[in-house]
Amino acid sequence: MERIAVLTSGGDAPGMNACIRAVVRTALNNKMDIYGVERGYAGLVEGKITRMNHRSVSDMIHKGGTFLKTARCPEFKDIEVQRKAVEALSAFGIDGLVVIGGDGTFRGAKDLYDNFGIKVVGIPGTIDNDLAYTDYTVGFDTAVNSVLWAINNLRDTMHSHDRVSLLEVMGRHCGDIALYAGVAGGAEYVLVPEIPYDLDAIASSIKKSYLRGKTSNMIILAEGAGNREEIIKTIQEKSGISVKVTNFGYIQRGGSPNMMDRILAARFGYKAVELLMNGCESCAIGIKDNKVITVPFEQVKKAKKEFDTELYNIAHTLSL
Ligand code: ADP
Ligand code: F6P
Repeated sequence: MERIAVLTSGGDAPGMNACIRAVVRTALNNKMDIYGVERGYAGLVEGKITRMNHRSVSDMIHKGGTFLKTARCPEFKDIEVQRKAVEALSAFGIDGLVVIGGDGTFRGAKDLYDNFGIKVVGIPGTIDNDLAYTDYTVGFDTAVNSVLWAINNLRDTMHSHDRVSLLEVMGRHCGDIALYAGVAGGAEYVLVPEIPYDLDAIASSIKKSYLRGKTSNMIILAEGAGNREEIIKTIQEKSGISVKVTNFGYIQRGGSPNMMDRILAARFGYKAVELLMNGCESCAIGIKDNKVITVPFEQVKKAKKEFDTELYNIAHTLSL
């Protein structure tokens, strides 16, 4: 293995740049040629591939987003489109690929290996933390800390005005961002897609807490757990108390990666190159109990994420 490439795909996540840096520097320091692919699979299909050197990743470790850029490329599910990507790789004489992204990105990587024998290693990079086989994905910790910053600020105003606040955060199928930020931020209610909730009970509990003199409440809603306007309408109607809404949106996707994401990025990037050097053909890297692990892509697909119900119960117990 002498010549490899790296790309970022799916939603951007803080720490992707630190991860690219780790891949590039590890490859170069092991006398391999390393190429960067622009805009994920879309750029790979178009042959947007550039040789990288040590300086290509200078001053990148602390920057959010991904300097290689990322894209959604739905047409990559088509084997003929994948073939174009393979042709681009072979035009550059590239024999191994590191992909940084989420579940969809790994599906594309698995196809490249299964259909064309391209050696691929996947690094989990997504703020959602929605991959079951790994405890954490690059970007999750920073995103949660950004949400925490928002909760802290909201608390000040909600407390000053005796208000109820609903903060919507990302997570279509996975409530981890809402759960971790909710516990760390002391939210009264955490609404996630994994656990059904009862709006009538929430409304009546908010009303009761008002009567007891607790006049500000914080609800954290994961985007996949329901429609925020409908939730607010129901709570307001049933409790008679107004709810102020904030959609935190893309702010949580950006920002300088914190320590945890930079360390994960360094460990994953280093391991990815080591695996390709040592003949690994196709696998995903993760972290379990603070040990870097590797698993086949089939296992990534099969593993079903277990929601942390204990932490969920802690969130609601501590908020009473
Ligand atoms: P993430 O990687 O964060 O889950 P996406 O779901 O958008 O983000 O997937 C990223 C990209 O991976 C897609 O835009 C597409 O190019 C590729 N991809 C997703 N699903 C598949 C699939 N089933 N087969 C091949 N490629 C896929
Ligand atoms: O997968 C990361 C994520 O931020 C999800 O939480 C969110 O639903 C989605 O990406 C938004 O994606 P887009 O960039 O397509 O708006």
